[in-house]
Amino acid sequence: MVLTIKVPVKEANKIKNELMKDNNLSDKYKVRLENGFVFFPINNKPKKSYNKYKLVNKKIETIKKEATSLKEALSKVLTKKELTRVKTAYDLIGDVAILEIDEELRNKEKKIGKVLLDIRKDVETVLRKDSSHEGVFRTQKMKYLVGEKKKVAFHKENNIRLKLNVEKVYFSPRLSTERKRIVELIKNDFKELENNTKKKTKENILVMFSGCAPYCCVIANNAKDMVNKVIGIEINPEGHKYGLENIKLNKLINIGLINGDVKKIAPKLSKLGTKFDRILMPLPKHAEDFLEDALMLSKKGTDMHFYNFLHEKEFDNAKKTIKKACIKAKKKCKILNLIKCGQQSPGVYRICIDFKVM
Ligand SMILES: C[S@@+](CC[C@H](N)C(=O)[O-])C[C@H]1O[C@@H](n2cnc3c(N)ncnc32)[C@H](O)[C@@H]1O
Repeated sequence: MVLTIKVPVKEANKIKNELMKDNNLSDKYKVRLENGFVFFPINNKPKKSYNKYKLVNKKIETIKKEATSLKEALSKVLTKKELTRVKTAYDLIGDVAILEIDEELRNKEKKIGKVLLDIRKDVETVLRKDSSHEGVFRTQKMKYLVGEKKKVAFHKENNIRLKLNVEKVYFSPRLSTERKRIVELIKNDFKELENNTKKKTKENILVMFSGCAPYCCVIANNAKDMVNKVIGIEINPEGHKYGLENIKLNKLINIGLINGDVKKIAPKLSKLGTKFDRILMPLPKHAEDFLEDALMLSKKGTDMHFYNFLHEKEFDNAKKTIKKACIKAKKKCKILNLIKCGQQSPGVYRICIDFKVM
């Protein structure tokens, strides 16, 4: 059992930052999300300023320190100097591990891959990133290193299974917490609306840039009773193909996927009078170019989730961009939240701005 502080999901980001500032967020246990509350594992009973929140003893999973054990295992095959250059963080998509290896260690890459294969029983294939995320499809070249020769993986997250070719389709397992956050928001908003109006109104949701449909499937499966339909739009035919497979794999009936360019599809949907209750824009590199398209499919009350990569000093710029786009579209908006959902480099974060069209 671990001492946790129970915080409503809407206040979670603020409290997380405060706990981190107080050096009181435990790094030994995972953060738990349950029924609209976030349970933060803490090191000590907190100061008075947290009095408004309940302290709860909870059974919580520990954070596995595989990176340390990979480093330990690598110390047997690499020199001390090489060890300082090795990156021990890797992505795991199903049983495919994806390493990042610096140029100067490339002559040892198979050895490094073999060590990882040996220490992790759940890894069957080890690949190495061979480029950054490129082009419109945001895909990344992968070099096969060791293990079973394959690039197609079956990945599990948030109660769904996903099949994808890790080289032909963009997918990041690191976004699973963010996907869960969106599900919790949908559930909370549904409860709130039901309490206020006594009406159950299921949401119609648009996921622009849907890839192999991780957001669509996670939402459609985990917020089944709150969702009427999830529509995904994806330009990469391979992403679309796996998206269709993933709908079948998870036996979901409330998703529709469109293979095409948001720039062309959005005006067509708009002409048909289509409007959504919630719109997700998970293309952080260029989301601002698509605000106009998202806004044309919004109505009063639509919840928008706008993703971006930004230096923390520039967070306000994204808010300004959103406000400007809304003025241009003759719509009012209210910024609800800014969430850090990943770090790209020192000071640069993947952020999500939640805002409402008013
Ligand atoms: C960062 S990925 C996100 C994929 C998916 N939502 C996920 O989280 O795994 C962005 C996706 O947007 C797609 N994309 C880029 N430009 C697009 C456009 N104009 N219309 C539709 N999809 C686009 C890319 O092919 C890529 O799959």
